[in-house]
Amino acid sequence: MPLFKSLIFMSSENQLSLFDSSSLTQKDLIPTDAKIPIPEGTYSSITELAQHCNECHRCGLGDTRTHAVVGRGNLNAPILIVGEAPGQNEDEQGLPFVGKSGQLLEKILASVSLNSETDVYIANINKCRPPSNRVPSAKEITACKPYLFEQIRLINPKIILLTGATAVKGLIGDRGAITNIRGTWIEWEGRLCMPIFHPSYLLRNPTRDRGGPKWQMWQDIQAVRAKLDEIRNCNKEC
Ligand code: URA
Repeated sequence: MPLFKSLIFMSSENQLSLFDSSSLTQKDLIPTDAKIPIPEGTYSSITELAQHCNECHRCGLGDTRTHAVVGRGNLNAPILIVGEAPGQNEDEQGLPFVGKSGQLLEKILASVSLNSETDVYIANINKCRPPSNRVPSAKEITACKPYLFEQIRLINPKIILLTGATAVKGLIGDRGAITNIRGTWIEWEGRLCMPIFHPSYLLRNPTRDRGGPKWQMWQDIQAVRAKLDEIRNCNKEC
C-alpha cells in the first residue's frame, strides 16, 4: 500500500509523529489528499506549514497554482486578517493582498495607525488561487481549512477580521448577509471576530457618502482600533 494511503488509517497520535521536522523533507508525507488528516498541533511553525502548503494537493487548486500563498505580517500579531483566496498577483508573488485590494487594505489599516508588518498577520481561507479568481468551492475550503486552523493556533491572535462573505462562511460558518453582520463582534472559539467588507467590494463601490460601504468600513476599522487599545490597556492594567 502506498505510504500516503496507509496514513489515512493511522491514529492521530501516529499522524502527529509523521509531521515532525525530521520527516518534512519526505515527499510521501505531504498531504496529497483531503482524506489525510491534519490534526491540531501538526505544525510547530508557520515555516513548516508553508512547506506543506507549497506541496499540497488536498484539492485541485494545487494543480494550477504558481505559489501557495500562506501569509504575511507579524507571526505574533494581535490581529489576524482573513481574506478569501489569492488572486493573480498573489499567486505570482506568493504573498497575500499585494494587488489593488491589498493596496486599499494597507490604506484602511494606516488610517487608524495599524501597521501591516507589526500589528497584523494576513492570510486567506484558501492558500491557492482558484482559476479565473472564482470563489473557492465548499470542498476546496474544507480541504484547506486545517491550515488556517493551524495558523490561528500558532499566531494566537486576539482579534480576527473576516473580509467578505467567503471568509466569514469559510471560518465561522454562515451568519447572514455581510451587509448585516459587518462591524459586529462575534465570539468564535474564544476569539473576537469581526466581519468586514472585502476591499475588492469597496473598490467596486467607491462612494464615500455617509452610510455607504467605505464610510461603514471607516466605522468598523475605528472600532477594531479601539478594541485593540482596550485589550492592550487591559493587559497592562488588569
Ligand atoms: N483577495 C483575497 O481575498 N486575498 C488575497 O490575498 C488577495 C485578494
